Amino acid sequence: MNLTLKIWRQKSPEDKGKMVEYKVTDISEHMSFLEMLDVLNEQLVEANEEPVAFDHDCREGICGMCSLYINGEAHGPDRGITTCQLHMRMFNDGDTIYIEPWRAKAFPVIKDLIVDRTALDRIQQAGGFISVNTSGNTQDADAILISKHAADEAMDAATCIGCGACVATCKNSSAMLFVGAKISQYALLPQGQIEASDRVLNMVRQMDLEGFGNCTNTGACEIECPKGISLVNIARMNREFLKASLKG
Ligand code: SF4
Ligand code: FES
Repeated sequence: MNLTLKIWRQKSPEDKGKMVEYKVTDISEHMSFLEMLDVLNEQLVEANEEPVAFDHDCREGICGMCSLYINGEAHGPDRGITTCQLHMRMFNDGDTIYIEPWRAKAFPVIKDLIVDRTALDRIQQAGGFISVNTSGNTQDADAILISKHAADEAMDAATCIGCGACVATCKNSSAMLFVGAKISQYALLPQGQIEASDRVLNMVRQMDLEGFGNCTNTGACEIECPKGISLVNIARMNREFLKASLKG
């Protein structure tokens, strides 16, 4: 395949940035999207030009690092996958592909296609954990009975990889699908009950402080989420928040 790429280039957070056009040739349909970008970068290095900076790590849909907006869609045109799992067979010879970073006030661009997603880490640090007695008297995890249904729902919420596609996709740049998943993961389990009120109040406060928008039930986040995180997690977060607020 021969392709035209229009890629967002931005030298630094202060730089204005612009779309730059590149050509790549002989791209195999079996390549992943990131491998196609590797080919472009090799081309640029050979021509003594600055390679395109983009985030990636595991390249198998686990770490949440890859984060490209491809032809106006977070993680590209396929569903239920991350950018690193996207294959070039989703495109046609002669296509022009637009590649941009996540766009959100809370995700400032660091360079080219790399954005700063530490806002999500700070939300997690505000309450996305449980405290466990590790003095030697730790209760065996198997001693706490959990229904299969609750365990399955908690596990589904825990599959969120923190990629931020939900934020990038949302017209309000809301992080509520991410935060809803992180809160649900604990709210559904007995281990999460002790700190439940503090957790939801602190995580929602941090989410607001970071400048994320509110949810207006459009549902784009659920569609673009590579892990199929459901909107019911946002509803559960809202219920947990109301419960905690009424408790004072
Ligand atoms: S909810 Fe989905 S889109 Fe949002 S951070 Fe988690 S995995 Fe990514
Ligand atoms: S590089 Fe890890 S999920 Fe894509």
